[in-house]
Amino acid sequence: MKILVINGPNLNMLGIREPDIYGRETYSDLLEKIKRHADEKGVEVEFFQSNHEGSIVDKIQESYGKTDGIVLNPGAYTHTSVAIPDALKAVGIPTVEVHISDVDTREEFRQISYVRPCCVACVKGQGTDGYCEAIDILLG
Ligand code: DQA
Repeated sequence: MKILVINGPNLNMLGIREPDIYGRETYSDLLEKIKRHADEKGVEVEFFQSNHEGSIVDKIQESYGKTDGIVLNPGAYTHTSVAIPDALKAVGIPTVEVHISDVDTREEFRQISYVRPCCVACVKGQGTDGYCEAIDILLG
């Protein structure tokens, strides 16, 4: 089982960025946490982070035939991108949407997710533990 974990814009700034909302764990703390969890579950993980919508689309396309599942936090692109959900539909890889914060109780514009209809589940408001929960959902 191989899972690709994609993080969108500004998630590489974890720990620095708005710690009251996103916490004090850094991006590398996050990757360590996910890797530890994946190892425990016997899952291979690959990480990808980009601030660029097209690079995320490229990565989703490249994962066709190479990945069993995707854990995706599209960051702000959640609320704006049509190209990312189109890519998810194109490859048909089971994907779980993750948000560190509870986007549905924040500003109105964050309550719109274009990727949600293309995902098997959404984990939000669980902090960085949500990524591990998303892996467990993909494992079934
Ligand atoms: C986020 C929520 C988004 O609204 C925001 O733009 C992010 C992070 C989250 O993980 O809570 O960049 O996806």
